Amino acid sequence: MSKKVVLAYSGGLDTSVIIKWLANKGYDVIAYMADVGQGSDFTTYKKRALATGAVKCVVEDLKNEFVKDFVFKSLKADAIYENGYLLATALSRPIIAKGLVETAHKEGAEYVAHGCTGKGNDQVRFEVTIRSLDPKLKILAPVREWELKTRTEEIEYAKDNSIPIDTTKKKPYSIDVNLWGISIESGKLEDPYYEPDEDIYQLTKGINKAMALPAYVEIEFSKGVPVKLNGKAMNGVSLIAKLAKVAGDAGVGRSDMIENRLVGIKSREIYEAPAGWALYTAHKALESLVLDRETLHFKDQIAQKYAELAYYGLWYTPLKEALDKFIDETQKKVSGVVKLKLHKGNCSVAGRKSPNSLYKKELATYEEGDVFDQSLAKGFIELWGLPYKGSHSK
Ligand code: ARG
Repeated sequence: MSKKVVLAYSGGLDTSVIIKWLANKGYDVIAYMADVGQGSDFTTYKKRALATGAVKCVVEDLKNEFVKDFVFKSLKADAIYENGYLLATALSRPIIAKGLVETAHKEGAEYVAHGCTGKGNDQVRFEVTIRSLDPKLKILAPVREWELKTRTEEIEYAKDNSIPIDTTKKKPYSIDVNLWGISIESGKLEDPYYEPDEDIYQLTKGINKAMALPAYVEIEFSKGVPVKLNGKAMNGVSLIAKLAKVAGDAGVGRSDMIENRLVGIKSREIYEAPAGWALYTAHKALESLVLDRETLHFKDQIAQKYAELAYYGLWYTPLKEALDKFIDETQKKVSGVVKLKLHKGNCSVAGRKSPNSLYKKELATYEEGDVFDQSLAKGFIELWGLPYKGSHSK
């Protein structure tokens, strides 16, 4: 009996070559494509997979699940890696890996495979997830092992093996896209001093081309999850897609980073996450209105840890699940509306309101109606400073 392998297939050169390479080694290759909003032409890719030698090609629409169980969990946590990365690629890996494992079970496959290199984070995310879901599955990572060392050698292999691939297009960067954002690396970006050309950006307009007038959007949240855009109820997938267009047209959502990979390499990354930045800004603004100081400050520390767990491929782990429970507890009151002003690359909070607001005008005001008893402050300060009285007197 031949060995069955389910391969995470993207339709690009690497994974197409992998289909043939594995088939040449005697595997029955089942190509697996997860739709996480990358906008690929799945019909063409499916044909390509089969023409290349896959015995079957499975396409699964995971967009709703991706948004609900990955993106919005990360949003509720306010997770952001190294102050600039909203984790689009990192969040997509565990759901794709879960899809691989489930497909392997359905198809009775003993092997799963991915097309990641040995230098990145994605291999870690795939393999840690696969192992935590089913430690018995054997994992193949051809790109880490094979003899094809350069892109030119891969193209040669594709030609020799009649793999239907578009080799005429020069690929200047390594790009990963999904509904939440886009990650761009390599090529000319490897020089950290090189300023990317405008045409590298796909989801956001540059400041010069961005709309001259500010765009206002209203986002309504229910328990930390965005549910309405400009007063209109919609599911997460549509809300992200619509908001991405408005924010992207206003030039919001770019970052250019030198980032610390898990494998110890510093790398240059360009990210675009227009809807992500708008939602993150709005969500934080609402939290600052409805959460008490201690919860808010503690949650900020959790956000950092949460981002690391997502980035490091530790999604299906006890700590991550425990943090989700903590975060959900904090989100019970995070309902309300935030008004954002999007203009020439800036995303600012123009207003916020909530039935659970902890903001009390009668306490904050310096005008008529003040109920704050200023005379109490005297005793409070004395006790607050008691431990330090004279601590620095000369
Ligand atoms: N550095 C980012 C991450 O680790 C993006 C990786 C993008 N992957 C790609 N194939 N271009 O999440």
